[in-house]
Amino acid sequence: MIPYIPARTLKALKIAVAFVCIYIFFFTSFLHWPDSAGPRLAPRRISSYSCPSLSRGDTYSHIHSFSFNDTSLTESRILLLLENVYSRHGRLITQMLNATKCSYKIETFSKDLPLLTASSLGRYSAIVIENFNRYVNLPKSNRRLLDKYSQEYKVPIISFVPGRAEYFASSKVRGMNLTIWHNQKANNIRFPSSSMIPFVARPEVVLPNPLSDGKEWTLFDESPSFESVMVAEDAQGKRRAAIVRDRGVTDGVEKILIGHNLTEWIVGLGFLDSLRWSTKGRCGIATLDRFIQIDMDDVFVGARGTRMVANDVVDLIQSQDSLRSRILNFSYLLGYSGAYFLHGDNEEDEGDRMLIKKASNFYWFPHMWKHNHAQDHNESFLESTMILNKQFALDNNLNVPFDYAISPQHAGVYPVHLPLYEAWEKVWKVKTTSTEEYPHLRPWSNRKGFIHRGIKVLPRQTCGLYTHTQFFHLYPGGVNKLISLIEGGDLFWTVVLNPISIFMTHQQNFAHDQLGPYTFDSLLSFLQCWTQLQFKWEDPISLADRYFSLFPSEKSPLWSNPCSDDRHRSILSPKFNCTNLTLPNVLIVGPQKTGTTALESFLEMHPGVGKNGMVEGSFEEVQFFSGENYAKGFEWYAGLFPNASVVMEKSATYFDSVVAAERAATLIPHARIIVILHDPIQRAYSWYNHLVARNETIVAGLSMDDVLDGVSASAKKIRSRCISGGRYAHHLDRWLQLFPSTQLYLIDGGAFKDHPSQVMSDLTEWLELPYFDYESSIKFSRKKGFYCKFISGRSSCLGSSKGRIYPTLSPSLSSRLCSVFRNDNIALEAMLRKHRFPIPSWLPPLLDRCQ
Ligand SMILES: *[C@@H]1O[C@H](CO)[C@@H](O)[C@H](O)[C@H]1NC(C)=O
Ligand SMILES: *[C@@H]1O[C@H](CO)[C@@H](O)[C@H](O)[C@H]1NC(C)=O
Ligand SMILES: *[C@@H]1O[C@H](CO)[C@@H](O)[C@H](O)[C@H]1NC(C)=O
Ligand SMILES: *[C@@H]1O[C@H](CO)[C@@H](O)[C@H](O)[C@H]1NC(C)=O
Ligand SMILES: *[C@@H]1O[C@H](CO)[C@@H](O)[C@H](O)[C@H]1NC(C)=O
Ligand SMILES: *[C@@H]1O[C@H](CO)[C@@H](O)[C@H](O)[C@H]1NC(C)=O
Ligand SMILES: *[C@@H]1O[C@H](CO)[C@@H](O)[C@H](O)[C@H]1NC(C)=O
Ligand SMILES: *[C@@H]1O[C@H](CO)[C@@H](O)[C@H](O)[C@H]1NC(C)=O
Ligand SMILES: *[C@@H]1O[C@H](CO)[C@@H](O)[C@H](O)[C@H]1NC(C)=O
Ligand SMILES: *[C@@H]1O[C@H](CO)[C@@H](O)[C@H](O)[C@H]1NC(C)=O
Repeated sequence: MIPYIPARTLKALKIAVAFVCIYIFFFTSFLHWPDSAGPRLAPRRISSYSCPSLSRGDTYSHIHSFSFNDTSLTESRILLLLENVYSRHGRLITQMLNATKCSYKIETFSKDLPLLTASSLGRYSAIVIENFNRYVNLPKSNRRLLDKYSQEYKVPIISFVPGRAEYFASSKVRGMNLTIWHNQKANNIRFPSSSMIPFVARPEVVLPNPLSDGKEWTLFDESPSFESVMVAEDAQGKRRAAIVRDRGVTDGVEKILIGHNLTEWIVGLGFLDSLRWSTKGRCGIATLDRFIQIDMDDVFVGARGTRMVANDVVDLIQSQDSLRSRILNFSYLLGYSGAYFLHGDNEEDEGDRMLIKKASNFYWFPHMWKHNHAQDHNESFLESTMILNKQFALDNNLNVPFDYAISPQHAGVYPVHLPLYEAWEKVWKVKTTSTEEYPHLRPWSNRKGFIHRGIKVLPRQTCGLYTHTQFFHLYPGGVNKLISLIEGGDLFWTVVLNPISIFMTHQQNFAHDQLGPYTFDSLLSFLQCWTQLQFKWEDPISLADRYFSLFPSEKSPLWSNPCSDDRHRSILSPKFNCTNLTLPNVLIVGPQKTGTTALESFLEMHPGVGKNGMVEGSFEEVQFFSGENYAKGFEWYAGLFPNASVVMEKSATYFDSVVAAERAATLIPHARIIVILHDPIQRAYSWYNHLVARNETIVAGLSMDDVLDGVSASAKKIRSRCISGGRYAHHLDRWLQLFPSTQLYLIDGGAFKDHPSQVMSDLTEWLELPYFDYESSIKFSRKKGFYCKFISGRSSCLGSSKGRIYPTLSPSLSSRLCSVFRNDNIALEAMLRKHRFPIPSWLPPLLDRCQ
């Protein structure tokens, strides 16, 4: 990508380049400088970004303050229709959606459109189509389906309009009175203040030249029936729209058409704001407030010749003051390692003393006494080093006001090294930390936070500055690389897309060329020029509260397997052995009351199958992914399993748990998932009778009709337990979003009840296990009325709580339950057909009966 470089920056660049030779000479000698070294070079700065609008002295204040109207027609999810799953542009779009934390579903153009409605709600609040031509050329029936959905649920279509291989100066889309100009150049791009859509984007700032100067744009004629969201001038200087909104006057389908892909950052802003507009504020950017924290790690740490001198400290204070004019209440946070105080050359030691002298200008936080890597140490050792660092703060009057700490290299925060958490709690009462490793360093757009053992872990952002980046001319990939990160690149998007950004920098970035101050000054200039965002600073403790109230679903961590991730593997405690780690590769997920316990016991007979040992204090099932055991962490879970070719765990609560599918997909993404689909009416009835048979007080005196009527609080509670698990389509959808359908195995509950050995043989084949003689290992027990294991000539049946026989269901109750499950059963059939699963034998008659 060629960054857009304003003329002023270019000039400054040339000056910087002129110094390169001198620098190289001095840089090589830094490494060998004696303590009493000679003069250091004065810092060379290149000037920060300068905004084209501000240079004309204009101010554009323009924030639409309207609120969106009722939004209850659809769920908050986006349907993303891609050319194919490997599409490069698709990756850019999903990266942006990931960063907005907006939920979305990717589909490609295939014969069948995805299901658009599941119940009374539409499933998607906006439809994003990668290539408008694919929409225009959809088969009639699909086009009608999509348009009808868009009309009925008031769901706009956002689509990118690509150039054309053949030469067409202009074209029109059938049914749309809009002239489209292909393969155009575009200059002087801006968002007109007449459009209601720009929210993050600042209207009326003119971008003279985009990054791409070829004929890559699609432009649109302006016209009164269309709203110009973004305008540009074509090669002849004629004004046209580059993003246009079709209000849907003719066909009731509101469309936003975008004339370039997201590689242009200004198009990205237009897309983001279109997303917010289309979803009525539910996806994209909810607020203009941006909280920014800049941590300077490694204070006092670092080789001689790389550290700050006294003047750098003065400049740091000045940079802080200057950032305060852009970020309300801004302060740098300094993370220190006391052991290395006065470990530089003479000038740098002066710098250290200056930092102490000026300490009250900053907030400080502990960064571990000797910059220790947490995972290498036990708790008592970590504790003792923390006490030393704390004493250092007391001795030197450092202002450490917040219960915030950073672990050097983020070791021990994620993957969790508990001794670190415990020592932090003991010595510093740490409440908040941050890391860029959760769930992964890359991509930055997926980083999240979590809370564990009372410590709030916030996502931390990298800003392209590392310990070794000290000079413009030695910036990896050239200084243009850094500039492109700032001017519309990842660094820009980090702030645009995250309401809270905590940046990681190092002491070294504030020495020599002071890349730190430059980077943030320039970044804020660029952001203030092109966006309407408001920048603020807040202490990390309040920031953590704010973060988890914005993103409550992130509170619980999602454990992943560090052994299958090279980065995480390399920062594990040496005590942790990846070689013998065993996690299940088969999950029987439920639902309850469908025979899952019998299935488990039959499967366990196979010599190639191992299952978890018993868990103390829990009844029958581990319920790791759906219950409280999840907080014990994945090491605990892994410790339950023997090694075998099929390692299985069964918890029937997983199927309808809101969290289990995602947790399982994160820890064991390759596991095979087994579900039993039993007639939901029978299942609900059996649930009720199960409670009755166990004399549960909650069900005392309540008939099944009472339960369905929800006559009391207990009745309502039972109703939801009886019915919720039987909404198969609703729950199955969640698993299918996260696991490929080839990893799912659906067992027909009726067939399992009547011919278990056949079902088991099919299942073992699917699991690629060797043949096992189920025919003679499962026998019907007349006494029990169901099938039992048959081992060495003797039956071994499940306890009396399983397979009970109940009075038959009355016709009136049956018809009530029919209507309860009707819609879900219809959706189930469609879903099973779409994914090419067999239809369970009970489903077609039920659909007939329950019309
Ligand atoms: C919300 O509804 C009111 C009244 O019907 C209307 O005036 C306003 O324009 C609507 N706002 C939006 C964003 O559609
Ligand atoms: C974006 O569009 C430009 C110009 O048409 C093209 O060169 C580039 O490959 C596209 N990028 C992606 C990711 O589609
Ligand atoms: C978006 O997030 C999903 C789920 O976390 C991930 O699998 C995918 O790779 C991400 N896409 C991009 C482009 O970062
Ligand atoms: C199509 O748009 C043009 C202006 O762009 C307008 O003059 C004309 O009346 C429109 N035609 C119809 C049928 O709406
Ligand atoms: C932040 O700044 C405002 C206005 O300058 C001031 O009133 C407030 O006390 C400051 N807050 C903090 C925590 O410093
Ligand atoms: C912790 O580690 C230190 C040094 O690594 C060692 O001396 C000490 O015995 C260890 N303590 C415990 C309780 O294992
Ligand atoms: C890890 O476990 C394997 C298998 O149990 C064993 O052979 C190996 O020695 C262990 N490694 C360490 C470092 O404990
Ligand atoms: C676990 O079992 C598999 C096959 O059953 C075998 O290949 C593997 O070496 C075993 N792993 C350990 C750590 O014993
Ligand atoms: C794996 O090996 C380590 C050390 O070799 C041992 O402490 C641990 O208990 C083993 N874990 C399992 C699940 O066998
Ligand atoms: C439930 O109560 C009945 C009658 O009081 C009794 O016969 C039966 O054993 C009880 N069942 C259970 C599971 O406690």
